Amino acid sequence: TAGPTRFSTALQKPMGDITETTKDFEGFKNLFHRFLQVKGPSVEWIKIQRPPEDSIQPFDKIAARGLPDNVADSLNKLVVVKLNGGLGTSMGCKGPKSLISVRNENTFLDLTVQQIEHLNKTYNTDVPLVLMNSFNTDEDTKKILQKYTHHRVKIHTFNQSRYPRINKESLLPVSTNLSMNGQNTEGWYPPGHGDIYASFYNSGLLDQLIVQGKEYIFVSNIDNLGATVDLHILHHLVSQPNGKRCEFIMEVTDKTRADVKGGTLIQYDGKLRLLEIAQVPKAHVDEFKSVSKFKIFNTNNLWISLAAIKRLQEQKAMDLEIIVNPKTLDGGQNVVQLETAVGAAIKCFDNALGINVPRSRFLPVKTTSDLLLVMSNLYSLEAGSLTMSPKREFPTTPHVKLGSSFTKVQEYVNRFESIPDMLELDHLTVSGDVTFGKNVSLKGTVIIIANHGDRIDIPAGSMLENKIVSGNLRI
Ligand code: UTP
Repeated sequence: TAGPTRFSTALQKPMGDITETTKDFEGFKNLFHRFLQVKGPSVEWIKIQRPPEDSIQPFDKIAARGLPDNVADSLNKLVVVKLNGGLGTSMGCKGPKSLISVRNENTFLDLTVQQIEHLNKTYNTDVPLVLMNSFNTDEDTKKILQKYTHHRVKIHTFNQSRYPRINKESLLPVSTNLSMNGQNTEGWYPPGHGDIYASFYNSGLLDQLIVQGKEYIFVSNIDNLGATVDLHILHHLVSQPNGKRCEFIMEVTDKTRADVKGGTLIQYDGKLRLLEIAQVPKAHVDEFKSVSKFKIFNTNNLWISLAAIKRLQEQKAMDLEIIVNPKTLDGGQNVVQLETAVGAAIKCFDNALGINVPRSRFLPVKTTSDLLLVMSNLYSLEAGSLTMSPKREFPTTPHVKLGSSFTKVQEYVNRFESIPDMLELDHLTVSGDVTFGKNVSLKGTVIIIANHGDRIDIPAGSMLENKIVSGNLRI
C-alpha cells in the first residue's frame, strides 16, 4: 500500500479546502484498496445471460401509454444532471467541452439551458439543472453561468473528486504535493462519471434536492445533443406502483457496426448489469462486438431515484467495477488512473429497467465530423433541441470522415466559409488541405483528397454529386 501512504504524507501539507481534500482522500483510498484486492476478471463469461424479455422495453410501448394531464407534477419531481467534467481536448480545445459552439453560436451548455427553460415555461414547472464539474472545468463553467441568471432555470453545480494518478509499476502517486500549479497538473485526474454518486452525496446537494421534493435525476453526457427530457420515460418512472418502484432506467439503443465500443446490458447473478469492453476477456472480444449477440448499447442517458442513491451511499453498497485507464504523461512516464462509470451502478438498484430508445436520443459530438453533421441543414433547431430535418428522405445520417487537418475546431471552422448543404449526402470523406467556399452542396458519395503539398478549394456554389476530387485546385 505504498501508494496511499505517500499520498497521505502529501496530504499533511496545508492546502485549499481541507474538507473536500479529506473526502477525496477517503474516496481514493477506498478505490485503491478495492483495486489491490481485485483478482481476475470482474465477470465470468460463462455466467453471462441474455437479459430477460421484459427487462428491456421498447420505447414505443412506453410511449403508447400516453401522457396524463398532470405532466407538470412529474416534472416538478425531476432534476436534470449533465456530466460536465470533461475537456474539449479531442477537438483541440483547452476549456470545458460544454463551452464549444455547436450550432448557431450556441454551446452545448446554451442548448441545455434553452431546452430546460422551454420545459419550465411550457409546463410552468421548476426543473433545475445540475452540472457535475471537475477541477478541470469548474472555474471556466462558473464564469459562464452568470449569463443565465435571467433564464427560467435554477442552475446548481457540484465538483467531482480529484484523485492522484499512480505510476504503472510502483503504484505510487506521481505527484508529490497537492498543488495544481506548474508541473503537478498531470498528477491528478477526475475519476470517471461513476464518481457522481459519492460526489453528489458528499456535496450536500443531493439532500437539498430531496428536501425540495425532487425524486429523480435524468443524467446524461453534456455532449449528447439527443439527451432531452422525455416525458413518456418520466411518466413511466413516476407511475410505477409502490413496491415495484423502478429506481434506475438505462436508455439503450440498437447497435450498428459502427458502435462496437459501447457497453451493453446483460443478466448476471439475477440482476441487470452493464458489461463494458474493458471487462471482456480477450478471447471473447469479437463476440462482444458482434451485433447479433449483444444487440444494444448504453447511451448513458440514465434516470435514477435520488432516495435510492442516498440509501446506497449510506449503506456503502455502491461497488462499481474499476476501470484501469492507462496513460503516458508528457514526460514519458506510464501511469494508470482508476475510474468508474455511472451506468455500472445499475446492478445496485431495485427494479432496474432498460428502455430501447430511438437512435435520435443518442447524438454525441465527439469529433469535428460529428460537429459538421449537427451544424448542417440535416438538423433543425427548436428550443434548444435538434431534430432531423423532414426534408431528408432517409432516416439515417450520412457517414462523414474528416481528415486530420480538420481535427481542431478552430481549423475546422476556418475551412468552411459556410456549412455545405448535406440533405442528400450519404458519405463524405475529406483528406488533406481542403477548404469549402460558400453554399456548396454535397450529394451521394463525395470523396475529396488533397495529397501532401496539394490544396483543394471547393469553389463557392459548387454541387458535388457522387464525385471523387483529387489533385490541386486553388481559387
Ligand atoms: P467520456 O469521456 O467518458 O466519453 O465522457 P465517452 O462518451 O464515454 O467516451 P469517449 O469520448 O469515446 O472516450 C462522457 C461524459 O462524461 C463526462 C464528460 O464530460 C462527458 O459529458 N465526464 C467524464 C465527467 O463528467 N467526469 C469524468 O470523470 C469523465
